[in-house]
Amino acid sequence: MKSLYAVIGNPIAHSMSPVMHNDLFQHYELDAHYHAFAIETNDLTDAVKGFRAIGISGFNVTVPHKVAIMPLLDEIDPLARSIGAVNTVVNENGRLIGYNTDGSGFVLGLKNKFDDLESKKVLIIGAGGAARAIYFTMAHVGVKHLDITNRTITKAENLAKDCPYSVNTSILQLEEAENRLGAYDIIIQTTSIGMAPQTECEPLSLHNLSKNAFVSDIIYNPLETRLLKMAREKGANTQNGIEMFVNQGALAFEKWTGLMPDTSRMTTKVLKQLG
Ligand code: ATR
Repeated sequence: MKSLYAVIGNPIAHSMSPVMHNDLFQHYELDAHYHAFAIETNDLTDAVKGFRAIGISGFNVTVPHKVAIMPLLDEIDPLARSIGAVNTVVNENGRLIGYNTDGSGFVLGLKNKFDDLESKKVLIIGAGGAARAIYFTMAHVGVKHLDITNRTITKAENLAKDCPYSVNTSILQLEEAENRLGAYDIIIQTTSIGMAPQTECEPLSLHNLSKNAFVSDIIYNPLETRLLKMAREKGANTQNGIEMFVNQGALAFEKWTGLMPDTSRMTTKVLKQLG
């Protein structure tokens, strides 16, 4: 019988996950289908019950359900538990197990670029859910120096305090981060600033950016935010949010099927869908 996989969120109509995963199922000749379901917050408990009843094989969880899904599952992976959010669920013999592949998807992309990621000096801009997944996963894989800057300092302080993995962190005001920017090897932009439709802004000035720095923005709409454009014009290497999106999907696919899929195939598919 065909296996069913899904993504639940709200809104979900523009999700690129169905096209990406259905292409993989076809490519690897797996008898499976992936479908997007728009689920209202009030219906989340019933939706999970329904998934259990039909014996779903696995599903992704996106905004706004990544936190609320947790008490509805049977087991949570320790990294996902510490992050406090689940984006991937695996049905193991009727038990629903929650994972977080957002942070690990992001870190997988960086590991492919830097052999010595652990020793890099990293600045994270933002302290929301995405920053949390990235910060905790970077700390978990042994990155030693991870600073955070955010408009609301207390949110950055709480994020660092909640992290169970040992790491050196300074919390910086945006202006302090701008002044010290030249000291960082890797800068990761995790806020929504610069995302369509408000593309004409950036979270901080890159005046002091080193041309040897690597600047990553988790936004993929537009493919090049104003921050990335400015970084590229200063000679820095840049990365948009496509790789994180593809890698979180690849790691979910691996958890479901045991196969690590071809991420360049996935990237082509996603870029085609974005137009
Ligand atoms: P996500 O789950 O996508 O990370 P989030 O939890 O709402 O989203 O976090 C949004 C992040 O973007 C936060 O770091 C937020 O800063 P605050 O903690 O100060 O709210 C940041 N952010 C969003 N809009 C912003 C703006 N206009 N100026 C500065 N920071 C902004």
